[in-house]
Amino acid sequence: MSEWWRDAVVYEVYVRSWMDADGDGVGDLDGIRSRLGHLADLGVDAVWTTPFYVSPMADHGYDVADPRDVDPQFGDLAAFDALLAEAHRLGLKVIVDLVPNHSSSAHPWFVEALADPASPMRARYLFRPGRGDGPPNNWTSVFGGPAWSQAPDGAWYLHLFDSAQPDFDWRNPDVHAEWLDVLRFWLDRGVDGFRIDVAHGLYKHPDLPDQPEPEAHEQFAANTEAQAWDQPEVVEVYEAWRRLTDSYDGDRMMVGEVFLLDVDKVARYVSDARLHQAFNFTVFQTPFDAQALRETIEKSLAVLHPATWVLSNHDLTRHVTRYGGGQLGRRRGLAATALLLALPGSPYLYQGEELGLEEAEVPPERRTDPIFLRTHGAEAGRDGCRTPMPWTAEPGHGFTTGDPWLPFGADAAALAVDVQTGDPSSVLETYRRLLARRRALRSTLGDGVEWLPGPPDVLVLRREGGLVCVTSTAAEPVEVRVPATELLESTAAGAELADGVLTLPAATTAWLR
Ligand code: NOJ
Repeated sequence: MSEWWRDAVVYEVYVRSWMDADGDGVGDLDGIRSRLGHLADLGVDAVWTTPFYVSPMADHGYDVADPRDVDPQFGDLAAFDALLAEAHRLGLKVIVDLVPNHSSSAHPWFVEALADPASPMRARYLFRPGRGDGPPNNWTSVFGGPAWSQAPDGAWYLHLFDSAQPDFDWRNPDVHAEWLDVLRFWLDRGVDGFRIDVAHGLYKHPDLPDQPEPEAHEQFAANTEAQAWDQPEVVEVYEAWRRLTDSYDGDRMMVGEVFLLDVDKVARYVSDARLHQAFNFTVFQTPFDAQALRETIEKSLAVLHPATWVLSNHDLTRHVTRYGGGQLGRRRGLAATALLLALPGSPYLYQGEELGLEEAEVPPERRTDPIFLRTHGAEAGRDGCRTPMPWTAEPGHGFTTGDPWLPFGADAAALAVDVQTGDPSSVLETYRRLLARRRALRSTLGDGVEWLPGPPDVLVLRREGGLVCVTSTAAEPVEVRVPATELLESTAAGAELADGVLTLPAATTAWLR
């Protein structure tokens, strides 16, 4: 039970927006390496980097043309090796992102498949004849519009995302062999783990039948359609990959982006013979409400072993904004984060949340997300959570000396890393304290969680080993009787413990023992 990933705190770096070392306005691998000290200071265990492979950037790197090389915009393989070495020197694990559901349309396999109907490359993707004048079925893209586009010869190919992201046919053994080899390539370079994009994708129903409700693009809301996702065979891929990762030393791990909102379905992907972890997106779906949070947590702990906790990432509206924005949103965000950090399992943090950043306003003419482009602006897309990290208050915010690819959020100067550093009431210093405390207590805590009685808007839980966590989602201060004699941490000023009674301000989490 001692593998590092079981309770690791993992920090997601959105590569384009974390640190730009060469001044082109886009983040890069040398930039990441230069700022790894921030992660060591913050106290996380691992960094997950979004895709940095060769890509035309139709989906900012989730359209991969060569999964074994680095895009020149981000650096080269030597820059990756240097980043990995520096992370390891600082005691940080590195998880890289794999995109096995689809490739870029610029991938040499697809270039050949598109150009030549007789090429064996066609069988590595999902080419089909149309139905009348239209596409083979009624599936729609997650990003909006049809999920099919036409080759020059009239055949259609499937893309559940952008038309520049053709889906592989995982019923073709060549695809399996290729991906095992890609995994070996990065395992041999020394990566500690993989984040697997669209891990519930890969296989489609063999008949590619019409969807009863043609809403594949509901993936980011309530993906329940059976034909395009979550097919029975997909876990066999992860069984083969697990045999491979287990054959390497050093506890290499895989975490799947299984974007299903039913944790019972997600649990199928996680076992000692399949993926080590899968993202738990039920948490980001849960409102800031004590009983709703308890339900989500209980359900997750019951079925996911180990559990993971996701409040934000590069596809989701930032949680400070979801929780009401401004001071209130930040306060609730900290309370929810401290609750998740008190639980067994692995919290996944997203860059900038440790600063309390809000979703940024990005003007339409600067929006770049294929969701925005494919829906002709009907959906705003994800640019607002992807704006660059503010390191300092100055112009460029220590992120770039050039023009940033997306504008900074309005809160960048006020919430920059060096502005918050040293201010004990800041979001950043609160994250640092919580993470340091979690690390100090870690070896004393077990997986058991006991719920203790409390007022309706308050959660009181005791983690095996003695940590007591109290979260209030109430709008007014509350008093709670707690089995503790010492107040360890609080996410807001004003918490007090006297004679076994904790006074907790509104929307606050406290840790006690
Ligand atoms: C999920 C990724 O997180 C998202 O950013 C991407 O657009 C899709 N998968 C397609 O690869």
